Amino acid sequence: MESNITIPKHIGIIMDGNGRWAKKRLLPRNMGHKKGAEVFQDITRYCNELGLEAVTFYAFSTENWKRPKDEVDGIMKLFKEYLITAFDYEKENNKIIFLGDKSAFSGELLDLMEEIETKTADRTGMILNIAINYGSRNEMVHACKKIAQDVKNGKMDVNDINEDTFSSFLYTKNQPDPDFILRPSGEKRLSNFLLWQSAYSEFVYMDVLWPDFTRKNLDEAILEFNKRNRRFGGV
Ligand code: FPP
Repeated sequence: MESNITIPKHIGIIMDGNGRWAKKRLLPRNMGHKKGAEVFQDITRYCNELGLEAVTFYAFSTENWKRPKDEVDGIMKLFKEYLITAFDYEKENNKIIFLGDKSAFSGELLDLMEEIETKTADRTGMILNIAINYGSRNEMVHACKKIAQDVKNGKMDVNDINEDTFSSFLYTKNQPDPDFILRPSGEKRLSNFLLWQSAYSEFVYMDVLWPDFTRKNLDEAILEFNKRNRRFGGV
């Protein structure tokens, strides 16, 4: 990366195209997710090397449960394997946070997620957000319920509700908003990802399928981001 390039603070990545990657090779869809998970790990390392403050990966949405059972089971199995082995959270300095409604999980998977969040909570390195059973609408409804409860219990006054306090009830509390959202695979949709947080994000769409995504592709996306003139509503 050239030295005059601004490295974003926080990138949101929609890992899309795993199914199409597998289909093109006449492989089961879960092979696409397997390759996608490897790319996820390499790109996480690269984000660390680039010095990002935070990166958020969209791993599984609140809508993804509608997929065939064997596909959902396959993704959860991969996710668990990564939690057990590949995160290497004893060695890396990433603070790992799972964004989403954890009430859908139980047993070993939930224990692992909680253990990793606790063990990495005081880390000072990059925040690695993994959105799992995540949907922005769900996140905002969840925040509204918690705020309503606090107002009802006298912990909060209605006049204290503003954009900052609302943000503090989201799964991404205390984190910088994403500078840009990156979606590979040619699709140009946000798909219920970080709707509130991406109010001023740049959107970068790329034609490469996620399992084919490389460090060079991320460099290209960052260069594209650098060409944008961000005005945040000003002139
Ligand atoms: C979208 O591609 C991808 C997913 C819904 C699952 C992503 C999951 C992983 C990469 C593995 C598990 C996660 C971690 C963090 C280890 P798609 O299936 O919608 O692709 P398509 O549009 O080509 O069908």
